[in-house]
Formats: sequence, structure tokens, C-alpha cells
Amino acid sequence: MITLKSKEEIELMRTSNRLVAKLLEKLRKLVTPGITTGELDAIAEDFIRKNGAEPTFKGYVEYPACICASVNNEVVHAIPGKRALKNGDIISIDAGLRINGYCGDATITVPVGSISREAARLIKVTAKALEIGIAQAVPGNRIGDISHAIQFFVEGQGYSIVRDFVGHGIGRQMHEDPQVPHFGQPGTGPMLQEGMVIAIEPMVNVGGYKLKILDDGWTAVTVDGSWSAQFEHSVAITAKGPDILSRL
Ligand code: MF3
Ligand code: CO
Repeated sequence: MITLKSKEEIELMRTSNRLVAKLLEKLRKLVTPGITTGELDAIAEDFIRKNGAEPTFKGYVEYPACICASVNNEVVHAIPGKRALKNGDIISIDAGLRINGYCGDATITVPVGSISREAARLIKVTAKALEIGIAQAVPGNRIGDISHAIQFFVEGQGYSIVRDFVGHGIGRQMHEDPQVPHFGQPGTGPMLQEGMVIAIEPMVNVGGYKLKILDDGWTAVTVDGSWSAQFEHSVAITAKGPDILSRL
């Protein structure tokens, strides 16, 4: 069931999502060679709690941390720990929280020190893919219009779009209906209406789209070892167009 949000609820969701954006900005500045993903997670947890929010990832199906910190060939849901970032790595940081009853969810991919041209292009294409998807998030369009626009752009750049994980509605719950695939056919799926809030979160691989899950039960990596990037925004569908809530 898709729950529509009132204008007041969208403002509450802006507060939650801006807090996520602020956290991601803080973490972005801390991403340097030597810092561990566990240190980033500890800083995130401290930030979330000091701001009167609660982490939504921690405890979600026993996920043990407040952020996902996916490096290089890791695609999503990598658990923060002792891994120290190295010059040339890229890291996707996904963060979520709840405050005043409403959830925020966003992801950025950040270079560690100086990175290869290919890695820089991957990050740029993935950020653009999200932008292109968001542009389709208008009343009267369908979810498949977002999905298709992202897939078409990404594949045209010679990369692949991940299929095993999708975006989602967001509100009082981190994951609500509808699902938002980043691949598919235009004109298909649920119709977008004013008051829907969705998280669009394309994961783009340099190589093939196939993934496997590591023995920790969470970390998804590319089967071919190629690198992957992700950007995510929580976006409200409004008569005036897409309203990106997870932006400062
Ligand atoms: N941002 C992720 C998502 O959109 C959050 C899932 S991480 C988890 O699905 F640990 F909570 F599962
Ligand atoms: Co999400």
C-alpha cells in the first residue's frame, strides 16, 4: 500500500532527510586515507543520537551498524569495521535515521584521496543517473519511467545497472511501497501522485550487473570484481515537480 504524505508530513520528512544530508557532508569531509569504516560509523551514530534521532539501519534484520560503507567492488550493505580506506578507493556511504516519526535515507559515493579516471567517471555517471531518474519523478508518470530513464542512461555510458536491489517508498517506515527498480520499461508500474515520497538509489557497476552476497550475510559485491558506485535521494512528488528532500 502506498501512503501519500500531506504537505506537513513532507516538511517533517525534509527535516529528517536534511539531517541525513548534513551527516553525509560531515562524513564526506572525514573520508581520507587511513580512516576506518568503523570510525565513520561511530561518528555517524554519535551524530544521529546527539541530534535526537534514531538510526534506522541498526537492528534492521539484525544489521549491526548505522551506515553502510561499501568500498570499490562492494555494491551495497557493506558492514563498517576495521577496514582502513586507501588512496584511490571509492566509498559509498548510505545513511538513514528517524526523527519526529519520519525517516530519512540518502547515499553518496566519495573518492578517497586521488582516484583513477575510470573511478571518477563511474562516480560522475552514477550521480547523473540519479539526477535523470529524479527528473522523471512527476505526477502522471509511472515508476517505470524513472526505472527506464536510469537504465537507458547508464547502459549508454557502457556501465551496468544493478537489478538485485531497488529503491523504495519512504515515510514513517524506511521501506514502504512502491518498489523503485532502476531498470525497466517506460509506462509501467504504479502511477506517481502528489504526496508520494520515494528513495531513488541507483547502483552502477563498471562491469556486469550480477552480484553475490559475502559470508557476513550482508555485503553485496560484484561477481566480476568490477567497481560500483551509488547515489540516493529521498524525493517528494509534487505538482511543482520533484522535491529533493535529502539536500542541504
Ligand atoms: N538505504 C538502504 C536502503 O535503502 C538501507 C538498508 S541498510 C540496512 O535499502 F542495513 F538497513 F538494511
Ligand atoms: Co534507500
